[in-house]
Amino acid sequence: MAKLTVEDLPLEGKKVLMRVDFNVPIKDGVVGDDNRIVAALPTIKYVIDHGGRAVLFSHLGRIKKEEDKPGLSMRPVAERLSNLINKPVTFVPVTEGKQLEDAIDNMKNGEILLVQNTRYEDVKDGEYVKRESGNDPELGKYWASLGDVFVNDAFGTAHRKHASNVGIATNMPGKAAAGYLMEKEIKFLGDAVDNPERPFVAILGGAKVSDKIGVIDNLLEKADKIIIGGGMAYTFYAAKGIKIGNSLVEKDKIDVAKQILDKAGDKLVLPIDNVVADKFNNDADSKVVEGDIDDGWMALDIGPKTVKLYEDVLKDAKTVVWNGPMGVFEMPNFAKGTLEIGKFLGTLTDATTIVGGGDSTAAVKELGVADKLTHISTGGGASLTYLEGQELPGIAAISEK
Ligand code: 3PG
Repeated sequence: MAKLTVEDLPLEGKKVLMRVDFNVPIKDGVVGDDNRIVAALPTIKYVIDHGGRAVLFSHLGRIKKEEDKPGLSMRPVAERLSNLINKPVTFVPVTEGKQLEDAIDNMKNGEILLVQNTRYEDVKDGEYVKRESGNDPELGKYWASLGDVFVNDAFGTAHRKHASNVGIATNMPGKAAAGYLMEKEIKFLGDAVDNPERPFVAILGGAKVSDKIGVIDNLLEKADKIIIGGGMAYTFYAAKGIKIGNSLVEKDKIDVAKQILDKAGDKLVLPIDNVVADKFNNDADSKVVEGDIDDGWMALDIGPKTVKLYEDVLKDAKTVVWNGPMGVFEMPNFAKGTLEIGKFLGTLTDATTIVGGGDSTAAVKELGVADKLTHISTGGGASLTYLEGQELPGIAAISEK
């Protein structure tokens, strides 16, 4: 990697500002899935084991008004991090000012401090000022002034140009490095997309084709097959003139879908049967149909023949990238297609298998096959932006070696 990495930085006795992505689910003040915290531990441990003073920054959720703040405090994250790393973590409930500056100045080598949610800066005195998410130049400069070096390990946020990733890095030229998680994500996604062992099969799901057009365009050049599932499949159906009943469709994207189909030829693989329901509800009446979907019915999952077809396409793959569910995964009666695909990926032990996105990741975890896969990306939007072949501002801002 041509970027500086944490191992290139002086750490002993240094105030090491670290951007991590601890944007994790929190319910009733307790952290749910802590995968993103666990994934950042190797870099944090490296920094403190080498005598650094780790000052961690992360956002949590989105803050648009003052009332959003209390429910989006980083305090529960500090507690979970402390349990996971088995060390005290000082939580500072503010994002600027004397309290933060004193706390950082009082740190000893090997200590860890977590700053309050960086997006608290987005609302000041009740005004939505977007200082963090608008990459306010003064804010990036201020945060950079609090430390000696910067480590960006927040791959999940790399598609954002915010003060706490891009702002700090640009104010610390030659001292902004990638952490291990950032390196690992770039390696796996980068190798998969730019240098895949073939056949390379991409599985793309999710509700909207509009979210995935850039990815499909880029992957049509690179992948051998692209398997489509989820609500977006039915915009492709509409483009092919297949009846979709009441299924999800983006009417303004039917023409784009037609162009993609023309360009893709047999590279794009669509469902051949679907589980259709009479309403958007887990307890709806449902049945499996092939081809046309009648009015009054909507497709909520791929059908068993499609699962078989997709397994057939996947069985010889040497590289697989999966992003997005095959059906309405949050409804147990329509989660089967997603779960079957996840289960099958777990059997592809000779292939490099990479999963990104909330539902696909939840599926492989629920199935207990996550540890059979090569890499579970911590980035949803970031991994999609990467798969689109776009530059990620958070990565671009890291210093060159
Ligand atoms: C994510 O969860 O995708 C990242 O943490 C970025 O969060 P955001 O979409 O709120 O910027």
